[in-house]
Amino acid sequence: MVHGNSTFKAFRIEEKDGNYTSAVKEMEFGTLSNDEILVKVYYSSLNYKDALSASGNRGVTRNYPHTPGIDAVGIIEESNCYSFDVGEAVIVTSYDLGMNTDGGFAEYIKVPSGWAVRLPEKLTMKEAMIYGTAGLTAGMSVLRLTELIEPEDGKVAVSGATGGVGALSISILSKLGYSVVAITGKESERDYLISLGADDVLLRREVENFDKKSLLKPLFAGAIDTVGGEILENIIKTTGSMGVVTCCGNVASPRIDMTVFPFILRGITLIGIDSQNYPMKYRESVWNKLAYEWKPNQLDATCTEITLKDLQSKIELMLQGKLKGRTILAISE
Ligand SMILES: NC(=O)c1ccc[n+]([C@@H]2O[C@H](COP(=O)([O-])OP(=O)(O)OC[C@H]3O[C@@H](n4cnc5c(N)ncnc54)[C@H](OP(=O)(O)O)[C@@H]3O)[C@@H](O)[C@H]2O)c1
Repeated sequence: MVHGNSTFKAFRIEEKDGNYTSAVKEMEFGTLSNDEILVKVYYSSLNYKDALSASGNRGVTRNYPHTPGIDAVGIIEESNCYSFDVGEAVIVTSYDLGMNTDGGFAEYIKVPSGWAVRLPEKLTMKEAMIYGTAGLTAGMSVLRLTELIEPEDGKVAVSGATGGVGALSISILSKLGYSVVAITGKESERDYLISLGADDVLLRREVENFDKKSLLKPLFAGAIDTVGGEILENIIKTTGSMGVVTCCGNVASPRIDMTVFPFILRGITLIGIDSQNYPMKYRESVWNKLAYEWKPNQLDATCTEITLKDLQSKIELMLQGKLKGRTILAISE
């Protein structure tokens, strides 16, 4: 093994007596798995799941010490497979990366070749991580929504609008010609959301305070919901006939409490989005759309760049719902 005697840096989470602490540590290469490709990581990114893993959520990560990071992009330094050669740039997102396999908050990862997507020609490594799992999820949501509704059908709502999935969904939908209504808890970010491409902004509390009836006056032709709970309920109740709503997250609540009337009286379609196990053939196609025709004009506008030492403070902000857009980590030079 090329790196037999050297070490690499990783953001490690350790558990002692039920408390979880983080530190940047030197790791031995032998601690990595025996998987097929060793990737030198250039960029990673912060997702909500990473914040959960870094704070000891056993539903995400069973065993500690652990390196979170469900996203990584980098160059292959060792390959024991036929599908990739040393020197190729690859994106690795989701599957088990950063959950129960040491993840992208490190200078190196070792993963099965089946988790890697070749970096599309028109995407830089930095752009790939501005997207990351949030971008893949936004892309999957946009794909499913645009299969069923067109810009002429009416407005599309996006909740959790200043978050990673929300901000990227707004940018992509706007580029595709949809009129987007952003739903946010951050009154101060109205201008930011308009600059991403939203036509209108609704405050989260306004949506939470909608009437409790089973069906409400239609406001939207469709929606990308990233928060769940009461916001998702009220979006479904205000979606018009034959509308479509995608659902990927639960930062507000994993529960919805509503009747079947929107589905049986308006023909609403509710589509679940699961990026973690999204099959590779569809995954490559979404990455290619993100690299070419869907790439927002100012992809950079959604992103803040940090390094491993800044990570803990950003994780805390993310858990409080206070982060804006995408946070990417520059790992290697
Ligand atoms: N199913 C999948 O495959 C998949 C993939 C990726 C992410 N996800 C999930 O999707 C969700 C969003 O991910 P993300 O990466 O965009 O996270 P994020 O960057 O942390 O954004 C979440 C956004 O939700 C809003 N929010 C926060 N707390 C809230 C609350 N209590 N009630 C209502 N809204 C709240 C905030 O936006 P505003 O202040 O603008 O409202 C926040 O910025 C997470 O639940 C994540 O786990 C799922």
